[in-house]
Amino acid sequence: MTANVYRFPVQVLFGEGCVKELGALLKSFGKHALLVTGAGPTSRSPAVAVLAPLLEENGIALSRFQEVMPDPDMETVERGAALARERGCDFVIGLGGGSPLDAAKIIAALLANEGEPASWEGVGRVPRRCKPLICIPTTAGTGSEVTSVAVIKGGKRGQKMSIVSHNLYPLLAAIDPELTYTMPPGLTASTGMDALTHAVESYVARRAWEPTLALSLRAVQLIYSNLERACADGSDAEARRSMCMGSFLAGMAVTASGLGLAHALSHALGAHSGVAHGTAVAILLPRVMRFNLEACPELYRDIAATMGLDVSGLPARRAAEAAADAVEELVSALPIPSSLKEAGVVETSIETLAAEAFLNTRLRSSNPRDTVLEDLVEVLRAAQ
Ligand SMILES: [Fe+2]
Repeated sequence: MTANVYRFPVQVLFGEGCVKELGALLKSFGKHALLVTGAGPTSRSPAVAVLAPLLEENGIALSRFQEVMPDPDMETVERGAALARERGCDFVIGLGGGSPLDAAKIIAALLANEGEPASWEGVGRVPRRCKPLICIPTTAGTGSEVTSVAVIKGGKRGQKMSIVSHNLYPLLAAIDPELTYTMPPGLTASTGMDALTHAVESYVARRAWEPTLALSLRAVQLIYSNLERACADGSDAEARRSMCMGSFLAGMAVTASGLGLAHALSHALGAHSGVAHGTAVAILLPRVMRFNLEACPELYRDIAATMGLDVSGLPARRAAEAAADAVEELVSALPIPSSLKEAGVVETSIETLAAEAFLNTRLRSSNPRDTVLEDLVEVLRAAQ
């Protein structure tokens, strides 16, 4: 028998305004920080205005790398690492959504390791611990601030690569719900659906076990009952806080239990069609739930009950179908596309996408139902 493992080395600060409390902690990480942000609005996030004086007060120099585009590629992280080396940065702060946080992880790893990140694809291939890394999310979505995963574009086939290693864990995550108040409704919806997909896929994953099951289920509850509210009113403090907590808990679950078919397919969709990750998983999740439910209907019944659906007395399979229907309804009510067609994916590319996703063995191996290539084609067709 193989032991179950739960490893979680990240110190987490959570709460409104918690970024302002980082000063003394940052001092212990080094004398020169590289701040990694996106090229767009996150580079002007209120957190930047808070961080700059905090660093100065604590005698820490600041260099900024604000060139991370959505779905960052290898060339971008190498440029970030080159800047950090040139300036003598001894730690890295990632600020923003999943893309800047993932880029910050690989930049921090490049500062501590020789060799090409392309050779780190898969599990456990980053040789040495990355440089000290602090992650500050401004979306409630990826949970990247508490995971050991970074997704970077630029594998041998130009695909998205998942690099998973305990050497990529941030030392510190500061999750401040106030930083998410200015997220527009569309981004709130797509990133929130990413978090819900993490919660659902980690709950039914083959490696799920008691601690991750508890985390996943609570995350489903928080996200499902607050996502529409957060989209309708960005300054709804309770909804924003619940979304941040849900995304954080789902991230903790994912890191130990893995993900599933919606993520395998969405990586292929993102790389080939440019559909945003959260939008792709939002479209795919109800279809993947319908495909998977025959492998573990009881687990999907738990999800339905946690969502607050009245499934008492229903056979597990019917309750599981109700969970998938409720997720589909939620997506239709959100300001994001709810089908591949609406997202601009042409039907002719479905076979290519399925073939690409089928190569994603890691995600496929944690999916609760075995798949053959034709299954992936069918799930994509159902999402048309
Ligand atoms: Fe995701």
